[in-house]
Amino acid sequence: MPEVVARNRSTLMRPRSISVDLRPSAVSEPLSLCPPCLRGTLLALVASLLAITGCSLSTAPPFELNREGRDPAGIPAEQVTAVQQSLQKLFGTPDSPALPAGVTLDWNLLKAAAGPIRGEADGRQWGLYRRHCAGCHGISGDGAGPAAVVLAPYPRDYRNGVFKYTSTAPGAKPVRTDLVRTIQHGIPGTAMPSFRRLPTEEQAAVVEYVQYLSLRGETELQLLQAIVDEEADLQDVDEIARESVLRAAKAWQNAQTSLPVDGATTAESDAALKKSVERGQRLFVSPAVPCARCHGLAGNGRGEQSELYDDWNKRKLGATPEQTRQLAGRFKLPIEQLHPRDFTKGLFHGGDRPEEQYLRIYNGIKGTPMPAFGQSPGNPGVLTPQQIRDLVQYVRSLGPVGRL
Ligand code: HEC
Ligand code: HEC
Repeated sequence: MPEVVARNRSTLMRPRSISVDLRPSAVSEPLSLCPPCLRGTLLALVASLLAITGCSLSTAPPFELNREGRDPAGIPAEQVTAVQQSLQKLFGTPDSPALPAGVTLDWNLLKAAAGPIRGEADGRQWGLYRRHCAGCHGISGDGAGPAAVVLAPYPRDYRNGVFKYTSTAPGAKPVRTDLVRTIQHGIPGTAMPSFRRLPTEEQAAVVEYVQYLSLRGETELQLLQAIVDEEADLQDVDEIARESVLRAAKAWQNAQTSLPVDGATTAESDAALKKSVERGQRLFVSPAVPCARCHGLAGNGRGEQSELYDDWNKRKLGATPEQTRQLAGRFKLPIEQLHPRDFTKGLFHGGDRPEEQYLRIYNGIKGTPMPAFGQSPGNPGVLTPQQIRDLVQYVRSLGPVGRL
């Protein structure tokens, strides 16, 4: 069965972005609650009965426990309850979020993004995350909303706290502007749409909510590890949770600085640019750097190293096909391969500007096998800024419009 799903997905969906069809109404529809209650001719009457019957539009599905990779039947009920209750004390519910001590997110922005979808007469919008994002990214931020299964790559699961398109050192959290950039530009070549038409305040609100879901998810993972994997005493659950929140919050605060992008300029003259492209090509195909191993000698994404997975999917991979099949049952979405970028398409997911490609090669793409080649704290770096500049010009020159 998973094979069938995987085949459909890859043949139907892979190269296309279906953002337009899916956002926002088609995707958010399945999330509006109690649809059967709203059908029929006596709509007004039924609506007034909702409160009485308890079928209220303000009721949200709860945050789901992160069981990814675990055997659900193997987690004792009392551990599930302890973890869920502890998380709820700190982070509240989808309709009524809370901010734990030590987390410095903006409460007003968070409130605007959380909760059910509604608008006020003055145009103010609430429930922004559910309106614009949950259809793909899921209520819990697990990247497994109703639309996710047909998408390649899958929507981001925020709960590991890992983001691909950042300006920060390998292993570091993104800075806020990295997330804002993703919201404004989307991720071309994937289903992630651009939300640049949303008012700035609403963009800020969903960015705040992504961080909230991410912090909550990281806390949950650490709690599950302590309580389920290491069988810590259930009495200690709240204390472990508080410590986990502070650790996760600190990692976000530590990532306040982007690495310098000193190289990301266009060369001064056509002749200089041509030279840069030539140097970049020599480097790209030289055995001294591994680019061609993944991206292919022609830069078309077909290198010899083709069995690649991002960190979210790597966990679904067993040593044998049979193990992989068995593991698949423990995850919400079937295993999905990752493809190195085909530069002949000229489509850059992390942004179109040379400084953005510079950052990708310098810092790598987090959570994926695309390595970091620049210098960063604790890492001497493989390539100089000039070499990275040349590579940027070379990969850009491969696109259909040749960007020269
Ligand atoms: C139609 C589906 C869809 C919708 C709607 C959508 N996303 Fe995404 N989003 C994606 C996909 C797919 C990716 C992963 C792309 C990849 O891995 O390259 C993604 C990735 C992201 C990332 C990760 C960027 C990174 O650097 O790793 C963020 C943050 C994000 N989305 C935020 C949002 C927010 C906020 C909303 C709502 C305002 C939203 N998305 C709505 C599909 C969607
Ligand atoms: C181990 C495999 C591997 C190696 C080696 C590798 N890449 Fe990549 N690269 C990838 C993958 C996979 C992606 C796509 C990641 C994704 O979409 O999540 C990628 C993406 C990229 C992107 C696209 C960024 C964007 O915004 O779309 C650029 C540019 C790039 N690589 C350049 C290079 C260069 C230059 C080298 C050599 C210095 C290199 N890569 C080496 C695997 C690799």
